[in-house]
Amino acid sequence: MRILRSVIPTDEQLKLIGDVRPGFRLIRGAAGSGKTTTALLRLREQVQTRLNRRARRGDDAPVRVLVLTFNRTLAGYIGELARGSASDNEALILDVSTFSRWARSLVGKASIVGRDEATEMLQPHLRSLATTHPHEFMADEVQYILGRFNYDPDNFEPESLSGYLKVVREGRGSAPRITRTTRERLIREVIPAYMEAKQQRSKIDWSDLAPMAADAEPDLMYDVVIVDEAQDFSANQVRAILRHLHDGHQTTFVLDAIQRIYPQFFKWFEVGIAARPEMIYRLRENYRNTAAIAAFARPLVDGLPPEDDGTLPDFSSCRRPGSKPRVIVGKYSYQLRIMLDRLDRKADLSKESAVVLQPRGGGWFSEARRVLSQRGIPYCELTRENEWPTGPEMVALCTIHSAKGLEFDHVLIPGLSRQVTPHGPEAGDADLERLRRMLAMAVGRARKSVMVGYKPGEESALIGLLEPATYKLITA
Ligand SMILES: Nc1ncnc2c1ncn2[C@@H]1O[C@H](COP(=O)(O)OP(=O)(O)OP(=O)(O)O)[C@@H](O)[C@H]1O
Ligand SMILES: [Mg+2]
Repeated sequence: MRILRSVIPTDEQLKLIGDVRPGFRLIRGAAGSGKTTTALLRLREQVQTRLNRRARRGDDAPVRVLVLTFNRTLAGYIGELARGSASDNEALILDVSTFSRWARSLVGKASIVGRDEATEMLQPHLRSLATTHPHEFMADEVQYILGRFNYDPDNFEPESLSGYLKVVREGRGSAPRITRTTRERLIREVIPAYMEAKQQRSKIDWSDLAPMAADAEPDLMYDVVIVDEAQDFSANQVRAILRHLHDGHQTTFVLDAIQRIYPQFFKWFEVGIAARPEMIYRLRENYRNTAAIAAFARPLVDGLPPEDDGTLPDFSSCRRPGSKPRVIVGKYSYQLRIMLDRLDRKADLSKESAVVLQPRGGGWFSEARRVLSQRGIPYCELTRENEWPTGPEMVALCTIHSAKGLEFDHVLIPGLSRQVTPHGPEAGDADLERLRRMLAMAVGRARKSVMVGYKPGEESALIGLLEPATYKLITA
């Protein structure tokens, strides 16, 4: 399957590639505006410049580079691109990783509780709060608190989280509301009890990894750092990276808050970065989507707080024409049949790629697997942790989460039911906002065509947000 191709940078991208001053840079832009592509071209330039300087001066110290991506899928490509600039292997130390892999390599052996186990451990303490909020929502709130405020997992002090009592709730919807009393009890009762429970099991959780990585020795002293999809990094994850920078480093954060799909939010000053205008670049063109696809995605995120780091999809910045997305109504098997028939007619799968995206993993894949095999369509399954498949398959199957940052010619999203997109009833519900961002992000993966499907009477509330003029409806 094809990965990011080589491109001729435009003027707005060249400015960013040519900015060689040390320090922090933020790249903002909507899905498909070339943020990742430009950041990697910038990386190549920075590595080349540093290697030349090293050779000129006869330095012994290697150039240390860290690239953190959301998916490991880009790892092979980035490795090739950056190593292409190094004449001798000793000169360049390149770490390409996801944050959690990188942090785990620093922290060493640790037994980590997953999301489900963490929710289960939190449950008895959440019950005592007697709120009517779903426990998953509250468990996410705990991770949000532990992601944003700096604390010591080995020697936990509730006071270290007291910033939570004062912050305005942003980036997590406005409902369900969490009262001041609940906030107090979360940091003074629930979280301390949870910390203790983890300690008793000799375990840590994903949030603890960040402050632990920040304190890990040795200081890795990176010269060049790229953080892709930084909108889904917590403040503590960013703090951990900042602890391992060399003087004179060049660190680039690539982000689009509109595509945030985890409960993370913080402001740059909280991590000690003053986001001054000269550090910020915004990419405006959309190279990936057609105007029809961008128009289809737009109402999903319209009205969401764009935040400073967010950019709404803009169909006026798309150049390539294309047909309207299709919304297919019928049983799951009917949806898939119509989608694959259409793909058969319209796509050349010897050259074009397609992805079947599922809102959830697990059993939801079995039917898609069966149908693809029955039709003799070779496919591969993508997860966040596997590298980009280099085999001949042009069809991929994955969860929406795992597709973040990737692109495909054709995007198929069958089974968009209420059951797989649960959320609360109030306006501004945090889960509904997250789902809206998630579906817009999924649609935004497509270069040429999009098809969405649902069973009549079981459709997700997200379907109702779509603008009928932007798609063609196909019913059984
Ligand atoms: N200067 C350019 N000319 C032509 N195509 C380009 C240019 N820059 C980027 N592209 C193409 O645009 C598409 C999107 O690029 P990229 O994946 O870097 O966008 P992104 O902003 O990182 O998107 P996302 O937010 O979804 O991660 C890719 O196919 C890339 O090759
Ligand atoms: Mg990207």
